Amino acid sequence: MYKQIGILTGGGDAPGLNAVIRAVVRTAVGEFGMKVTGIEDSFEGILGETHTMSLTPKTVSGILPRGGTILGTRNRGSFAQMIDGKPFFPELPISEALANLDILGIEALIVLGGEGTLAIAEQFHKRGFPIIGVPKTIDNDLAATELTFGFMTAIDVATEALDRLHTTAASHDRVMVLEVMGRNTGWIALHAGLAGSADIILIPEIPFSFESVAEKVLARERAGSRFTNIVVAEGATEVGGEEIYSDTQNLRLGGVGEHVTREVGRLTGKESRCVVLGHLQRGGSPNAFDRMLGTNFGACAVRALVSGETGKMVALQAGTIVTVPLSEACANTKTVPVDGQLVRSARDIGISFGAPLEGKG
Ligand code: F6P
Repeated sequence: MYKQIGILTGGGDAPGLNAVIRAVVRTAVGEFGMKVTGIEDSFEGILGETHTMSLTPKTVSGILPRGGTILGTRNRGSFAQMIDGKPFFPELPISEALANLDILGIEALIVLGGEGTLAIAEQFHKRGFPIIGVPKTIDNDLAATELTFGFMTAIDVATEALDRLHTTAASHDRVMVLEVMGRNTGWIALHAGLAGSADIILIPEIPFSFESVAEKVLARERAGSRFTNIVVAEGATEVGGEEIYSDTQNLRLGGVGEHVTREVGRLTGKESRCVVLGHLQRGGSPNAFDRMLGTNFGACAVRALVSGETGKMVALQAGTIVTVPLSEACANTKTVPVDGQLVRSARDIGISFGAPLEGKG
């Protein structure tokens, strides 16, 4: 049994991080009598002078419904560099971090993060340091787990946005375009589009044609519905087209919503407006599901460490928390199956994905 474990959060924040932290602390301290040290600002907090905080059931009291992370987070840090599009992990920061963990008396780590953070965690594991990962991303794009916490809250936020756009679109007979996050997957757009009664859903997995999108808008017009709600995932592309970046240097997606709004307005002659939902999807209180999933992940991560597991990530599979190797967890992106049930159901109820032949059928 470990005397002291550390916990850190890395990458973009997601609603539910504090729920995991609270569960880790309550389980580690209350159930197993261990000490828990919070490492601030991702792995950066174990470099140099080190920035840590002691976590007790008292210090984590009341954080369950809080958005963000009480530990702070960093997107990119000293531990990983991209060289020719591939991640490279320099030895120096890892050796320094391992030496500092030894000085601090931290014997094992629980790391909350997405693909990038978990790939760094794996480097610690490879050097023999006990580590358990907890998957986090609002994008829900990690193949090894059915769900990541933060995703359901993001869908709630996007659904509410669509509900609100619906009434203003209908009042003005306009086309409203909502750009949502999701990186190169359409999970948020698809789920929120269904829940928020979008008429057109554009996702990276199904390249769209403007001809087909415009045809759907005009078909609705002919049928007496003079407004249209479109939800577009930030990574969606036209057939044969490229993703649109707001920041090409840092590969930050953004701008497809404006592009769709302009083109649909031009092709249909309809007044069109764009809303970019952005970080509203990540900020604020987690919903009930994400609090529950985060809590379950946190408690299971501690139990996995205590039972001697390492180099693993907790994951939800068939409704149960299991552990999978970190290498597997980072390897594959989970994309929306284009012939899957949800896409089929959306099509069955008349939602268009803007695919080239759709508008002509
Ligand atoms: O991965 C989560 C996510 O919110 C993506 O959906 C989005 O593309 C990206 O992070 C935004 O990152 P940043 O916070 O650096 O703008």
